[in-house]
Amino acid sequence: MAALQRGGTQEAIPFCNIKALPITDSMAVVSNASIKRVTNKARNPMNIANEFEESLIEEYQKALVKGETLQPQISSDSSAQAYYFPILTNAMCLQCHGKPGVEVHDVTLENLKTYYPRDNALGYDSNEVRGLWKVILAPKP
Ligand code: HEC
Repeated sequence: MAALQRGGTQEAIPFCNIKALPITDSMAVVSNASIKRVTNKARNPMNIANEFEESLIEEYQKALVKGETLQPQISSDSSAQAYYFPILTNAMCLQCHGKPGVEVHDVTLENLKTYYPRDNALGYDSNEVRGLWKVILAPKP
């Protein structure tokens, strides 16, 4: 947010490219957990959802359309316990995740292409399921 306010999308995208993963990593150290974001339409290929997570995203999408309250979920598909929380879009997000030429300006698009050649995270509207927070608690020794 600070980078966005300081220098607009031109400053914020390079910041995210370098800092997004280290920031989530430092949270993991503090809470003895691993925290990441996963999505069915990834900008960073490191954040691609697995099959279980994709089905969870679909469930959240359906629930959102029905106007239901989205509840966090606990995964049962692996030995570790993973907690999932949906991430929704709002108008602010569309500067970088909306429609090219509409909300996403040309200069933003160029930046995205430079840093994320395999970007899949465009074309969103407000109040859509963008992905999930995934928190895995480290097993006690
Ligand atoms: C300044 C541009 C910008 C804005 C505004 C922005 N994002 Fe992103 N978003 C990015 C970039 C760049 C990445 C890739 C970060 C990385 O390399 O891990 C990203 C990645 C993500 C991811 C991880 C999954 C993926 O595709 O790699 C989620 C989830 C996400 N954004 C949601 C949001 C939401 C929700 C909002 C609004 C609340 C938002 N973003 C606003 C630029 C932006």
